[in-house]
Amino acid sequence: MKTSSENNMRINTIRIKPFKDQKPGTSGLRKTVKQFQVLDYLQSFIQSIFNSLPELRDSTLILGGDGRYFNREAIQIILRMAAANGVGRIILGQAGILSTPAVSHLIKKHQALGGIILSASHNAGGPLGDFGVKFDTASGGPAPESLTDEIFIIASNLREYKIIDINPIPMDKIGQYKLGNMDVEVIDSVKDYAKLMADIFNFEKISALLTSPNFSMCFDAMNAVTGPYAIAILEDQLGAPEGTVIRGQPLPNFGGTHPDPNLVHAKQLVETMYQEENAPDFGAASDGDGDRNMIMGDYFFVTPSDSLAIMTANAHLIPAYSQGIKGVARSMPTSEAVDKVAEKLGLNCFETPTGWKFFSNLLDADEITLCGEESFGTGSNHVNEKDGLWAVLFWLNILAEKQDSVEHIVRQHWAEYGRNYYTRHDYEKLPFKSAEALFNNLDDNIEQLLHKPFNQHTIISADNFTYNDPIDQSVSENQGIRIIFDDSSRIIFRLSGTGTEGATLRVYIEKYVTDLDQFELDTQEALKSLIQTAELIADIKGYTGRTKPTVIT
Ligand code: G1P
Ligand code: ZN
Repeated sequence: MKTSSENNMRINTIRIKPFKDQKPGTSGLRKTVKQFQVLDYLQSFIQSIFNSLPELRDSTLILGGDGRYFNREAIQIILRMAAANGVGRIILGQAGILSTPAVSHLIKKHQALGGIILSASHNAGGPLGDFGVKFDTASGGPAPESLTDEIFIIASNLREYKIIDINPIPMDKIGQYKLGNMDVEVIDSVKDYAKLMADIFNFEKISALLTSPNFSMCFDAMNAVTGPYAIAILEDQLGAPEGTVIRGQPLPNFGGTHPDPNLVHAKQLVETMYQEENAPDFGAASDGDGDRNMIMGDYFFVTPSDSLAIMTANAHLIPAYSQGIKGVARSMPTSEAVDKVAEKLGLNCFETPTGWKFFSNLLDADEITLCGEESFGTGSNHVNEKDGLWAVLFWLNILAEKQDSVEHIVRQHWAEYGRNYYTRHDYEKLPFKSAEALFNNLDDNIEQLLHKPFNQHTIISADNFTYNDPIDQSVSENQGIRIIFDDSSRIIFRLSGTGTEGATLRVYIEKYVTDLDQFELDTQEALKSLIQTAELIADIKGYTGRTKPTVIT
């Protein structure tokens, strides 16, 4: 260890051996807590982020996380490293809490150089769970691939990091502190974000709905970051009855469940919404770091792909978008439901690879207003990240304007645009070798699939998706195998970039129908033959030994 002094601040330079595995995936560096607790592991990645940034002196950075296990320790380490690296000011969420969209908003508001978000999103927490570090740039959006690649190279060769020795700051108390020469401002985690929401939506109308005796809702914060946000906005500000928000306290292990808003993990909400009697009119949930959302009605589930399409079709009802919207974008595996709306409204519809970072350029260039992914992520140009509570308020605003039920709104949408049946089958914790062999086999044989018939339908297009970014002309290859049939049904295969244990194969299946008689089928039933085709084409059983997926959404 080397110690130097700068303006009365003792900076320690710690020698380390480079870590070769700090490659960020779909959304930041995500590893087990145990891995992050390895001596100097977190420090190496943070120093690599700092080294990748052009000018830290006098800069402002936003810092916060989803409250998961190791959040508080990580924040104190990052603060001491930021001071040692000459950062001018850190704006920190109280108790270390900030949702991903709140960080994105604060970056823009304070013209910060960027933000560090501590979260592994919807992955489990606790000492045996996962931890993660995401970096958002000055645009408020996730670091682009060029930057994450650079950070990875820096980390692979990093031999030292800088840190100061100093007592921890009291991060639970709002106020201004000095850490060495660096200013630290501990702010209310919710206030700025709540104001942004009030500027976008018609709070008066939403409040009238939420306080009406004829309406009830249930919001499941999954013991994760949106608890304080949802209680402050939905209950305190908009007047929803106390108890509308369930599991509203962020817990380091999320109460022992996955903070993943889907039909499998948001169990309590799903049971509430599927009650035979007295189910709430509206149900919603958000994930670990508050960027995902699930939307439900009384005995009804809205697929995220449909949700994006319906939000686009009804955007004119929301004050912030009432003047009209620019284009829209969806990730490649997301269903084409939004394409149909875009076509009718005469909007550009972009197809990007999986991962929010690919929307950032389009949002920055004002090419799109709304965007979303099948993985329960929706967002707009209000911040450069997906935003769970924003989507919930968007739906509440639609309900308040239409005075109609969730189910009826969705059914009317299908009647007008047709229905895109959609499902995703995940095969989790596969040995890397078998997942890669399966994928390589598909990739190698992709051209031979062309014109082949399966269950009376012929494959008219088959490729490994390459994205040409229309804004910066960057090219992202190998973004998933895409198989399209002559009735516009689609099967997509991808390997996940966010898992921490083994490989996850994702199979996305979609079928478009316009015949009203075809609207009432169970999704898995409607997609049965395509599901079988997918299993056959990829020889899932042969490569993995699995006869069924681990999770179906
Ligand atoms: C998953 C989702 C993707 C989302 C990402 C981060 O990534 O599929 O849409 O952007 O989490 O929330 P994957 O594990 O598929 O790489
Ligand atoms: Zn998330």
